[in-house]
Amino acid sequence: MSLVPPGPPPVTNNPFGLLKYARAFREDPIGFVGRRFEMYGDMYSTVFRGVPLYVTRHPAHIHQTLVTSGGSFMKPEQGLGARQIRRFLGTGLVTSNGDFWRQQRRMINPAFGRKRIEAFGAIMVEKSKAILDRLQPGTTREVGADMMALTLNIVAKTLFDHDPTHDQDRVASALDAFRNSSGAANILPSWVPIPSVRRMNHALRDIDDVVYGLIDARRTESDAALATRTDLLSALLLASSETPGTSDGRMSRKELRDELLTLFLAGHETTSQALTWTWYLLAQHPEIEARLHAELDDVLGGRWPSVADALPFTDRVLLESMRLFPPVTTVARVATEPVEIGGWPVPKGADVIVWIYWAHHDARWWPEPERFDPDRFLPERLAQVPEGAYTPFGAGQRLCIGKHFALMEARLILATIAQRRRFRIEPGHRVEKHVAVTMSPRYGMRMAVEAR
Ligand code: HEM
Repeated sequence: MSLVPPGPPPVTNNPFGLLKYARAFREDPIGFVGRRFEMYGDMYSTVFRGVPLYVTRHPAHIHQTLVTSGGSFMKPEQGLGARQIRRFLGTGLVTSNGDFWRQQRRMINPAFGRKRIEAFGAIMVEKSKAILDRLQPGTTREVGADMMALTLNIVAKTLFDHDPTHDQDRVASALDAFRNSSGAANILPSWVPIPSVRRMNHALRDIDDVVYGLIDARRTESDAALATRTDLLSALLLASSETPGTSDGRMSRKELRDELLTLFLAGHETTSQALTWTWYLLAQHPEIEARLHAELDDVLGGRWPSVADALPFTDRVLLESMRLFPPVTTVARVATEPVEIGGWPVPKGADVIVWIYWAHHDARWWPEPERFDPDRFLPERLAQVPEGAYTPFGAGQRLCIGKHFALMEARLILATIAQRRRFRIEPGHRVEKHVAVTMSPRYGMRMAVEAR
């Protein structure tokens, strides 16, 4: 038996070959990789610009890479994707590794404890109620943009006690520039005078203005005043006084900036995509929508939801929506030592790409995988699904820190809005998946708003 899984020929540094590969991959990453899985099986390997690359969709491999052998891997620090993210986010919880990551995670974990998160429920409902004014029946809305604005507001208020009313458009367009940034904007130095680099510089300046503004304003407060606040930014400013490695024992301004921006971005974009796809699915499946409405009417009877309300069908709708449309489609790792995955030896330095999307769409674990069927998440049916086949939040030590925050937030937003509104796709509007940092609808989600 060969020591490497089968796979396509290596991609070298030859610019023409690279360009051809990048174009084919970029156009439709899901289809591109899906065809390779069909051709080579659950794990295929190749060599990408001199680095061994292993790509898998198998739940057992996913579980091994992220959980049981998670200690033999780190987050990638090189490569285009990693550079794109680092250029913008710097070194925060999502991008860091080793002792620095461990220290940051320990410091931030308490802010995501169950009790702390539950205290945010009222804000989540308040902000969702406020957006109903914009979602006027009879109008057509870009629901993706509305969900983005809503989740951005929620994360700013809950984690940083900030109402981004004035900076909202600036922040939104800077984040858009980052999301849509080309390879060139991330590889070339910032002084190169081409439009994509200029746009990226502009976005970075805008974001830095807002984030440093927030940090500097809060830093003027005394420790005693900070201690009376309950948000994460204040906690970081206080707790970081015990962090070794900086001159005054606190996190540096740049470290705080990176962490805040990381949480800002990771904390709203994914949840917003999950909700946008959920509205799409509900519009396409009136029978499921009717069951959701029945549960809301039954449990809430017209009042606003709270964290104490059990809404099991609403939860199942969200879980199934994230199965079909996982906001994060892949997770990447680099082997820090030789390790074995699915019986294959993976050498130190190899890249491993885990395809969450394809594990979620595999008929072996999810019969009729393209069917929207929230009852797959009934406990007795879920018990049949192998570990690693459903990982919208990742798994293991790098499991999403915001998982419970996101699940609670999405449930409260859905329950608040679906009590008063329903949405229908604008006739003729094209809906297509677009995979970049997260998976979004390529042409947005234009929907007609109806009263309920
Ligand atoms: C539906 C919503 C969300 C989805 C689908 C999602 C998905 C993920 C995934 C797949 C990872 C693991 C990445 C990896 O292993 O390489 C991750 C990590 C992370 N997420 Fe989320 N996320 C969501 C919401 C949130 C929220 C609300 C926050 C914060 C408020 C957040 C903050 C983070 C952070 C900081 C990490 C890095 C954790 C670490 O490496 O220690 N996420 N998320």
